[in-house]
Amino acid sequence: MERTLSIIKPDAVAKGVIGKILDRFESNGLRIAATKKLQLSRADAEAFYAVHAERPFFNDLVDFMISGPVVVSVLEGENAMQKNRDLMGATNPKEAEAGTIRADFAENIDANAVHGSDSVENAANEIAFFFAEREIS
Ligand code: CMP
Repeated sequence: MERTLSIIKPDAVAKGVIGKILDRFESNGLRIAATKKLQLSRADAEAFYAVHAERPFFNDLVDFMISGPVVVSVLEGENAMQKNRDLMGATNPKEAEAGTIRADFAENIDANAVHGSDSVENAANEIAFFFAEREIS
């Protein structure tokens, strides 16, 4: 069964919508195989988003991701990576379709409520970044 990584970002955690977002996953056929709340260090955020290191928004992204705790989860199901991306909606909430997580809970392209892996290969790396295999079941 396919797996993907989800992060509920500091804006959504601060708003108190962890449960509402996790419910979107479970109500749409994505099983929560692992989940935990944690505060990322600057080094964590820089390493996790290393692929974006040269992008102009990198420093703002890292600052935002360490501004408060996040909830990281492993989601499992058929086509889990794409299904999670469909549930999240477009990266920029202004472009996100009605009824998606970002349309309903996100503020702007930086504080956009959730992250989801963008390929099955990246999902495996992102899951390994946060979870030991024994934490996933
Ligand atoms: P995420 O899926 O977590 O991956 C990288 C994040 O960078 C993205 O969501 C956005 O929150 C943030 N970001 C800020 N500006 C941009 C941009 N111009 N293009 C893509 N991502 C951006």
